[in-house]
Amino acid sequence: MNSPTEIIVASPGRINLIGEHIDYNDGFVLPAAIDKHIYITLKKNGHPSRGAVMSKGFDHTLTVDLNNLGRGTEGWHTYVLGVINEIQKITTAVKGFDCHIESKVPVGSGVSSSAALECGLAFGLNELFDLGLDKWQLIKIGQRAEHDFVGTKCGIMDQFASVMGRAGHSMLLDCRSLDFEYIPMNLAPYRLLLLNTNVEHNLSSGEYNVRRQQCEEGLQLLANRFNIEKSFRNVTDEMLKKSKTELGQTRYDRCSYVVEEIQRVLKAVAALKEHQLDKFGQLMYQTHEGLTKKYEVSCPELDFLVALSKNEPAVLGARMMGGGFGGCTLNLVHEDAISAFVDKASIAYKNEFGIDLTYFQTGPSQGTSLVH
Ligand code: GLA
Repeated sequence: MNSPTEIIVASPGRINLIGEHIDYNDGFVLPAAIDKHIYITLKKNGHPSRGAVMSKGFDHTLTVDLNNLGRGTEGWHTYVLGVINEIQKITTAVKGFDCHIESKVPVGSGVSSSAALECGLAFGLNELFDLGLDKWQLIKIGQRAEHDFVGTKCGIMDQFASVMGRAGHSMLLDCRSLDFEYIPMNLAPYRLLLLNTNVEHNLSSGEYNVRRQQCEEGLQLLANRFNIEKSFRNVTDEMLKKSKTELGQTRYDRCSYVVEEIQRVLKAVAALKEHQLDKFGQLMYQTHEGLTKKYEVSCPELDFLVALSKNEPAVLGARMMGGGFGGCTLNLVHEDAISAFVDKASIAYKNEFGIDLTYFQTGPSQGTSLVH
């Protein structure tokens, strides 16, 4: 079969309704792809081993030598090179190509522009060169690119959401078995509103990997002590309490958050299925509390916005979303109150931090796909 000469891929960012920082802890997550995409145009250039990649907004072209990838000189290069590097571990079928990237996914906002880029490029190269990779391979290529080239030891949630998204649905993913279920999202008359602190997070700065390490150490200790298979799914509150001294306060807090959040996602999904949006909102607030106090991945700007929303009867729930340390809060807001809430939050936020708040509404959308 002939490959198409030029293709355009749309690869979405993601939201996560609940289940934060537990994708790498054998937990459950509830993400959805969003209607903001990175667009990647790809065509073969006939060269056996040279690629040229342009990204809108950056004036310089990344020249890719397929025989000697190197590391690149700018942040976005690592995602591109990392993906190619992973694909080359599977197949040598990728040859010279020209690529143009245009992002409509806000960067550093916790909606995973990075996974959108990784998955979009992997998807596009798969189509262009008929590599025959399945969706799970694309997801894992994106994740490993992030681990090995970018340096963030991320979980699987972002790449999964970007590739598997379905319009009108969130996805309950069991990050231990990788089984998942599409959950119809009926939030009416409420909507999902993202408030962007415009404080940029940077996961590779190390705090993300530190959290992962602390959980890993805590879990190892619990597994040894109680002779259980090493998974947070086997850890109970009782075990945690008994091991508080051994774990030390920090590891205890991290592990305790993980165990609670795993339970919380299941409660949240049950609430969603029953259209108990009040209850769902309360669980969002609880997650935020845990992320702030026990997991310590929030920041004053995020905490301020969540605290503010608690005084608004039209907001059922709010929390920081994604890796943390900046980015967006996710808010469940009555559709009639959105503009009044945004106005109020914008003024209060500007007064407090001198930063302009930005916002957007979004909803679950289709995963990475061909535009043509
Ligand atoms: C980032 C990571 C994900 C996940 C979230 C926190 O987005 O890429 O794997 O761990 O943080 O839930």
